[in-house]
Amino acid sequence: MNILILGSGGREHAFAWKLKQSPKCGQLYIGPGNAGTAMIGKNVPLDPNSFPEIGDFVVSNNIDLVVVGPEVPLALGIRDYFKQRDDLRQIPLVGPDQKGAMLESSKDFAKQFMVKYGIPTAAYATFDQSQLDQGLDYLKQQTTPIVLKADGLAAGKGVVICESLEEAERVLKEMLQESKFGKASAKVVVEEFLTGIEISVFILTDGTNYKILPSAKDYKRIGEHDTGPNTGGMGAVSPVSFANKEFMNIVEDTIIKPTIEGLKSEQIDYKGFIFLGLINVNGQPIVIEYNARMGDPETQVVFPRISSDLVDLLFGCTQGTLDQVELTIDAKCACTVVMVSDGYPEDYQKGFGISGLDKATENLVFHAGTSSQDGSILTNGGRVLAITASGNDLSAALNSAYSTVGQIDWEGVYYRKDIGQDLLTMTNKTLENSAEK
Ligand code: AMP
Ligand code: GLY
Repeated sequence: MNILILGSGGREHAFAWKLKQSPKCGQLYIGPGNAGTAMIGKNVPLDPNSFPEIGDFVVSNNIDLVVVGPEVPLALGIRDYFKQRDDLRQIPLVGPDQKGAMLESSKDFAKQFMVKYGIPTAAYATFDQSQLDQGLDYLKQQTTPIVLKADGLAAGKGVVICESLEEAERVLKEMLQESKFGKASAKVVVEEFLTGIEISVFILTDGTNYKILPSAKDYKRIGEHDTGPNTGGMGAVSPVSFANKEFMNIVEDTIIKPTIEGLKSEQIDYKGFIFLGLINVNGQPIVIEYNARMGDPETQVVFPRISSDLVDLLFGCTQGTLDQVELTIDAKCACTVVMVSDGYPEDYQKGFGISGLDKATENLVFHAGTSSQDGSILTNGGRVLAITASGNDLSAALNSAYSTVGQIDWEGVYYRKDIGQDLLTMTNKTLENSAEK
């Protein structure tokens, strides 16, 4: 089976790594990919948002399966585009249609969906540009902190947690009046603040059947002990110790099943991943966000724990036969540490030579933002590498990952040294507690 993966990050490198292990994987293309994916398959200069070019490539290269990594092509309707073209209609594609992708691309749509289908989520109200005064009145009735969310896609930056009413008023005005996040903040969701530990739960669905993949916890802030600005993710671990069987049963009954039923009732063509961003409030899982794709860097710990053939799972997802495919999860713990450029998530420089990659052979080195030049690997993004290790427990996995991280270097490299530490101190019985044995 010839496969095309769209995207260029660590997530797409992890997809390529896992798909290539399948005896069913024929030619593997990554558009546009990075220096890491080029070691596994063939990088092709495709823009994931340029559908006509992608379509032509798929036809002329006999692609049998298209896997969409990032959210933007989904939000722009890549599945709908494939359905409209006679020569692409039959090509299996992993990713929901445009309406399904709205679970991620419109926070207001996601909130309405959750309320309609009785899925637990924080109390909220939505305001558009003509409703600033009502929005300001609503803020006065809330207790702080108050969460403000730009409705649209804002590259992970559209959520502001306001500690005071004054800050919330200022940010609401900036978002609605001054288009702080461009069109994405033409509408703003004002949400109740929830206290608890976050967990990411991943589902693969064909629209009717679903598989619950390993869950993960990611570390979003740039600084140790969760300080400083949000990033795309500085590390992740899987499994998550508090996600025991009892918790996961509640997630399945109160969130996953009603979500799948809701998608069916709305006649959404959802064949792909659902990423549930949950918060555990005293044992009750509550949805903070939906994403219509896998997480990055969560994929870099989720896929190494899946023993089953990913080609079978993804193909089954596109054919509506996921119930006939087996999912086996490895009991080992996995962690990933993301190595970033100095300055990230603000301005940073690119083009530094990365040393030590030849020595780092014990663990998985997923490339996120790299390029190659004359045989050298150079930094080419804010997030540069994600180093994944496995172990019998979380601390073994962490020790192993950090030993590899220590072998790799470039000018201005930065990484968090405390990935997974909060879970280690909460309990060191990760495996005993996990539902994913
Ligand atoms: P999102 O982009 O929706 O994932 O939000 C980014 C981050 O903001 C989340 O990972 C949480 O840490 C935080 N957050 C979002 N909504 C809430 C909420 N209602 N209560 C507390 N924290 C939240
Ligand atoms: N790691 C969070 C995300 O992929 O959105």
